[in-house]
Amino acid sequence: MNVMTGAANEEDHRDIIEALRERLARSRVQIGPHTLYNADCRLALPELNGFDAVITDPPYSSGGSTQAARNQAPSKKYRFTGTKKTDPDFGGDNRDQRSLTLWCSDWMAECLRATRQGGALMCFIDWRNLPAIIDACQVGGWVYRGIVPWDKTEAARPNKGWFRTQVEYIVTATAGPITRDASAPGIYQTGYIRTPVIAKDKHHITGKPVTLMQELLRTRDDWQNVLDPFMGSGTTGVACVKMGRVFTGIEFEPRYFDIACRRIEDAMYEQ
Ligand SMILES: C[S@@+](CC[C@H](N)C(=O)[O-])C[C@H]1O[C@@H](n2cnc3c(N)ncnc32)[C@H](O)[C@@H]1O
Repeated sequence: MNVMTGAANEEDHRDIIEALRERLARSRVQIGPHTLYNADCRLALPELNGFDAVITDPPYSSGGSTQAARNQAPSKKYRFTGTKKTDPDFGGDNRDQRSLTLWCSDWMAECLRATRQGGALMCFIDWRNLPAIIDACQVGGWVYRGIVPWDKTEAARPNKGWFRTQVEYIVTATAGPITRDASAPGIYQTGYIRTPVIAKDKHHITGKPVTLMQELLRTRDDWQNVLDPFMGSGTTGVACVKMGRVFTGIEFEPRYFDIACRRIEDAMYEQ
């Protein structure tokens, strides 16, 4: 370090990068072919590459109609009143729409760098911040390919005198062009996915059903190496194990990271 200017020299930079890499290595857990990091994805992503698809469910920064309501803890915003479930809270869920767009474009750009040409991004969001995610993926350099509604069925939260909060969205994008001809690996998918949230299959305040993630993976069999930088309780990882894909997951909340490790181990044991 130059004491006069405070500027770090090249050697300092190398030391900082080395220290960050060591921290990341210490946060890593290997379960068979699957790799899990208990880290902030902004620290881990620059060290990763070689993915075919990124399937992820980031904090929505949603809930409520005012910024004050959205600043509440996820356990207050996303849980039914009177529910007996006590899943841990998680951070990073209180950005306003502009900050959410900027933050998402930043990690989405890193995901793009880590994904092969023709690979895909599938990012969950709800109706409030759908425009932010559509903007962010394009700012991040992805080619936006449209939205897939996830219909949670009539089991979803009813609203008397208004519409049931029944649908969330998957924003889809690709890393450059995709092969669309009939010989492309994969199936002719439906334009939406209809599957309910099952309480006993939910291990996170905002946990997704494994069947939903499996349905996304079914789209293409060349999505072999799959990344989820916000894995929460590891649902994308469990689906990958069941579908014979290789999973890399990142989660910064230690309690959810432990749940994800256990679920992925259990899923492997069941195979
Ligand atoms: C919507 S939840 C994902 C839930 C997951 N799909 C499931 O089924 O369990 C988002 C997760 O991202 C985590 N998270 C938020 N910011 C993060 C960051 N910068 N790096 C890594 N994880 C982060 C939160 O702790 C939270 O568990």
